[in-house]
Amino acid sequence: MKLLKVSRILLFTFLTLIFSNCNEDEILSNSTAELVTIGDKDYRPDFHFTPQSNWMNDPNGMVYYEGEYHLFYQHNPDASVWGPMHWGHAISKDLVNWQEMPIALYPDDLGNIFSGSIVVDSNNTSGFKTGSESPLVAIFTHQNPVNNNQTQSLAFSNDKGRSWTKYEDNPVLVNNNIVDFRDPKVSWHEETQKWIMVIAAGDEIMFYSSPNLINWDYEHSFGKDVGAHGGVWECPDLFKIKDENGQETWALLVSINPGGPNGGSGTQYFLGDFDGETFTSSQESTLWLDYGTDNYAGVTWSNEPSNRNLFMGWMSNWSYAQNVPTYSYRSAMTFARTLHWQNTNNNSIIVSKLPTELIYVIGGNMVDNNNATSKFELLNDETLGEGKFYLETTLDFSAINEAKIEWGNKSSSVVINYNKVTGELLLDRSESGYKFNNLNGNVLKCPYVLPDSNQLKISMLVDKSSMEIFLNDGERVLTALVFPLAPFKNLEISGNNEIEFIKKLKINQL
Ligand code: FRU
Repeated sequence: MKLLKVSRILLFTFLTLIFSNCNEDEILSNSTAELVTIGDKDYRPDFHFTPQSNWMNDPNGMVYYEGEYHLFYQHNPDASVWGPMHWGHAISKDLVNWQEMPIALYPDDLGNIFSGSIVVDSNNTSGFKTGSESPLVAIFTHQNPVNNNQTQSLAFSNDKGRSWTKYEDNPVLVNNNIVDFRDPKVSWHEETQKWIMVIAAGDEIMFYSSPNLINWDYEHSFGKDVGAHGGVWECPDLFKIKDENGQETWALLVSINPGGPNGGSGTQYFLGDFDGETFTSSQESTLWLDYGTDNYAGVTWSNEPSNRNLFMGWMSNWSYAQNVPTYSYRSAMTFARTLHWQNTNNNSIIVSKLPTELIYVIGGNMVDNNNATSKFELLNDETLGEGKFYLETTLDFSAINEAKIEWGNKSSSVVINYNKVTGELLLDRSESGYKFNNLNGNVLKCPYVLPDSNQLKISMLVDKSSMEIFLNDGERVLTALVFPLAPFKNLEISGNNEIEFIKKLKINQL
């Protein structure tokens, strides 16, 4: 294993050295004509959060307070691989531009700082308030690096998240011999006037309640006999979610690793009821928030000002996260998404949408076509020049069975193929460029049966090494990484016959 890792690192150092010593013309004129400099610069996304340096995994403590969206994250400040976990910190006013802040939480005598959440304690139930600001209270897992014991602890900030003090009587929730007992997500339950904690325990979720964030009572456990159990359950989140008529239900997100829908890490969810003590769900099938390989450990923002279920996940997969070919930094977050309940034709699901903030990044309208066509082609086009674009198209399958969207260069490409008969969308990255792991270069499968309208709207956000693909306004989502060896400048949309099936097409440069 170790040897394999070392040889991978050597191969990449070698490639990077070769490419950084050549200029583009030289490279283009040699036999591997399309190779240009690869490396961090070409893979680091522009409008997704990445840490300035070193390792990042789960988003933590996402909270909104006084005009600022806070994003904390699992961070190893000393290496680009997982290690002693700290909470890194970034702030944004618009969910697009992020400012990295000093590290918020460092490991201490009780251990490393694993994932958790933050709440705004407006009523000062914890008694942590010292000044005029409401205290922000972080509830996180302390992981003892010697015996891996996991307990739950608190820290608080009275200066809008700038400085943090750990609670002197940590931990506030000890562990009764559960091997994996972590990632507390806390929210205020208005009806019972209590804080509710959901926490992953092996492959189920435990519910606790508290009047003050300090004393916790066990309520119940959920999940033993339902959902996917191919791996450990992690990073739960519990929230109310509305449908378009304003009707409410409860959702419980649960990340699972391995056992995701396309291998490795994934996030499933349950829709049901919660009465302040017990979560129940009559859901029979396993539902996935994302069919891509690269959206993990995602949860929603606390105290979101417009009461949106605003979600963000870690854009990687534990099966290969530490081998992703970037060195100065490792990993990005997904773009923020809003989650909604869609409850039609006995089909009760969560749909994910890009939030309106996206308009801040959308630049020139490069293609805006409302006339139906049978084929669309961009060849060597600057629109896709830097590998960052937003595409939205509506494809009409009334008279065709199969269509594909392919973007790439002469030697490699990514292909989305939807087949109406099999009711399946394939995202094929097998010829997409650099692959460092079977899972990373695989073909992703996503079951999706078209609605009666026969229309498939595909919205796609591409940011250099990532793509986020939404089918019919988020009924299905695929988030996946891709590492082209040269810019992808060609795009083609075609169907299995000459019918004018491309009803609308819009491409924006980002
Ligand atoms: C999920 C996870 C969490 C844990 C953290 C450690 O990706 O394994 O369960 O708290 O990462 O970094």
